[in-house]
Amino acid sequence: MSETTGPTEYEARAKKLDAVDELAAKRAEFVLDETVYLDGNSLGALSVAVPGRMADVVGRQWGELRIRSWTEGGWWTAPERIGDLIAPLVGAAPGQIVVGDSTSVNVFKALVAAVRMAEEGRDEIVVDAGTFPSDGYIAESAARMTGCTLRPVEPAEVPGALSGRTAAVLLNHVDYRTGRLHDLPGLTAAAHAAGALAVWDLCHSAGALPVGLDEHGVDLAVGCTYKYLNGGPGSPAYLYVRHDLQDRFDSPLPGWNSHAEPFGMRSAYEPASGAVRGRVGTPDILSMLALEAALEVWDGVTVEAVRAKSLALTDFFLECVDAYVPEGRVRSVTPEAHEERGSQVALRCDGAGEVMKRLIERGVVGDFRHPDVLRFGFTPLYVGFADAERAARVLAEVLDEVHARS
Ligand SMILES: Cc1ncc(COP(=O)(O)O)c(C=O)c1O
Repeated sequence: MSETTGPTEYEARAKKLDAVDELAAKRAEFVLDETVYLDGNSLGALSVAVPGRMADVVGRQWGELRIRSWTEGGWWTAPERIGDLIAPLVGAAPGQIVVGDSTSVNVFKALVAAVRMAEEGRDEIVVDAGTFPSDGYIAESAARMTGCTLRPVEPAEVPGALSGRTAAVLLNHVDYRTGRLHDLPGLTAAAHAAGALAVWDLCHSAGALPVGLDEHGVDLAVGCTYKYLNGGPGSPAYLYVRHDLQDRFDSPLPGWNSHAEPFGMRSAYEPASGAVRGRVGTPDILSMLALEAALEVWDGVTVEAVRAKSLALTDFFLECVDAYVPEGRVRSVTPEAHEERGSQVALRCDGAGEVMKRLIERGVVGDFRHPDVLRFGFTPLYVGFADAERAARVLAEVLDEVHARS
């Protein structure tokens, strides 16, 4: 702990920062308690709007209107309608995002479709070497199915690994383990310069920082909605296909929901135009409408304001950890540079599993990622500076205990 700055100074600073936080009032729009909840990068908190909406969806829309809700209640068009609610949060114009399926399934659709759109003769898929495992497994299968070779490459080295053989590049915008933010504009431009398509996984960035899909010419993107978008456990993911690529999007899962005339029940497949082409089967309406209600919390909020608070929170947390935790006990693997940081802080330490268990017992909820990473996710809509200070303080206490035992 620093000699000149005691813990109470950090508590006082947290109080001041919370008092001028323009997003502070948003916390009341979530169901929360005294717990310091730093796991919104895994499962976002429940929005106050959701239980009432679900009561209506189940009781009235399903219970009373039954089948009529598919048309009269707007169930059938929910995937595109909710896609358009997500669009401004990731910098996309309307009509390019469809909600449905899991991220894994959308990675499959996007990657196979990207290879099918690439020039003939291109037979390599480049994948982020540290990718979330599911993306890696799916990319391996997609490569096998399309006759491509899969090349795992560290994101920083991607430009040098691209060639006339590269069909598509699959990258994570923010690394799930370290919280490192990758250079979406630069890497997308590099993929394009090599004639390849860029597919981005936005799971750890959407709702936490500006993405700029349209601005940066991203080809395809996928993401989940249960982290910073607070859609709920297992809420449906989304797929972005850039406007001018939609007519060439050849889905490897051409289910009836993506048909030009789904109720024509024709044996021949004819794809719909627009974002609908990314659909597969019947949408999971209960989860989808919970997500729709959860997205109301974004009314009047800009992603820029969220990003500014996220950086201030993670800076402050790192500063508190530095002040409270004796040197050498933890090592941050999250980049210090703002342009390389997502909305989480990942700290490496010995006995990380045990440390996180004790933190959770004391009301500081983050998560543990094998083998030695403590992850703390900062959701600016409901996490405050006092939370960051308390988390660092309790972490120091827990590390003291665990250290004393060993
Ligand atoms: C970066 C990333 N990609 C993909 C996934 C897999 O998502 P799903 O379980 O929706 O398929 C996750 C899940 O946490 C993730 O963090």
